[in-house]
Amino acid sequence: MDVIHSAADLRARLQRVPNNVFVPTMGNLHEGHIQLIDIAKPRAACTVVSIFVNRLQFGPREDFDRYPRTLEADCARLEAAGVDVVFAPDEKEIYPDRQTFVVEPSDLQYILEGAHRPGHFRGVATVVLKLFNLVMPHSAIFGKKDYQQYLVLRDMVKQFALPIEIIPAETVRAADGLALSSRNAYLSAAERKEAPRLYAVLKQAHAEIERGARDFQHIDQQSMAQLTRHGWQPDYVAVRRQADLRQPSERDRELVILAAARLGRTRLIDNVEVTLR
Ligand code: PAF
Repeated sequence: MDVIHSAADLRARLQRVPNNVFVPTMGNLHEGHIQLIDIAKPRAACTVVSIFVNRLQFGPREDFDRYPRTLEADCARLEAAGVDVVFAPDEKEIYPDRQTFVVEPSDLQYILEGAHRPGHFRGVATVVLKLFNLVMPHSAIFGKKDYQQYLVLRDMVKQFALPIEIIPAETVRAADGLALSSRNAYLSAAERKEAPRLYAVLKQAHAEIERGARDFQHIDQQSMAQLTRHGWQPDYVAVRRQADLRQPSERDRELVILAAARLGRTRLIDNVEVTLR
C-alpha cells in the first residue's frame, strides 16, 4: 500500500493504473468505512482511499478542531483491508490558495442538514469535485448514513457529466442498532447506552408508515417529542421522498425518514428507507 501526501505524487502513481475506484473519507476509520472498501475492491484494479478533514464543510461552531485525526491507525486498517493507495494530503496541498471557486449545489443544500449546517454541502461538493479531479476514479462509494450528501454528490456528477459512477452503500450498525460514525467516539458511556434510541425511533416511524399512517408531519413531531423526552435535542425528524428529499404525498411509495439530534455535545444523524408495496 502506498501512502501519498502530494497531488503530484498521486497523479504519478495513478498514471500506472487508470482503472481505479475511490472511497473518500475524513479518517478515524471504523467498520463502516471498511465495508465501503469491501464494496470498492472488486470493482477495479486499484482502490484509492483519501483521508482529509475538510475545513470547508465545517461551520464556525462545529468540531473541525477536535475531529479525531488518527492517520497511523487508519493506515494500518487500510493496509489490512487491502487498499492500494492512501491519499492523505495536508490542507496546503488541497487549498494552496483561499478556495474562491466553489460548487454550489441545488436547493437540496438548504434543507434538513443544510438548514442546520449552512454551507456544509457547498464544502462537501467542492472538496469531492477536487478529489475526483485528482484521483479520476471511474466509480466512488458513499455511505447512505449521509443520505443527503449522497444525493448532492449523485446530482453533482450528473449535472457536470463526470464519468464517475456513484455507488451508495448501506449504513453499518453496531449490534444495538447505532449507526457507526466517527463522532460516536465523543459519546460518554451513559450517552453511548442511550444513543441507539435514534434508530429505534426511526424504526418505530417506519413501522407506523408500513401499517398505513400517512400523516407524515404528525410522525415527524411524535418522533421528535419522543427523543426530547429522553434528553435529546432533535434538529429534525422528517419523512421525505427518497428521490429528492421533498415532502411526500400520500401516493409516494419510496420514502426515507431522516433524523439529526444532539445527545449531550454530540450531534448524531441517521435515516431509514421505507419502500411501500
Ligand atoms: O463523508 C465524509 O466523510 C466527507 O463528507 C467526505 C465525503 C469525505 C468529504 O469531505
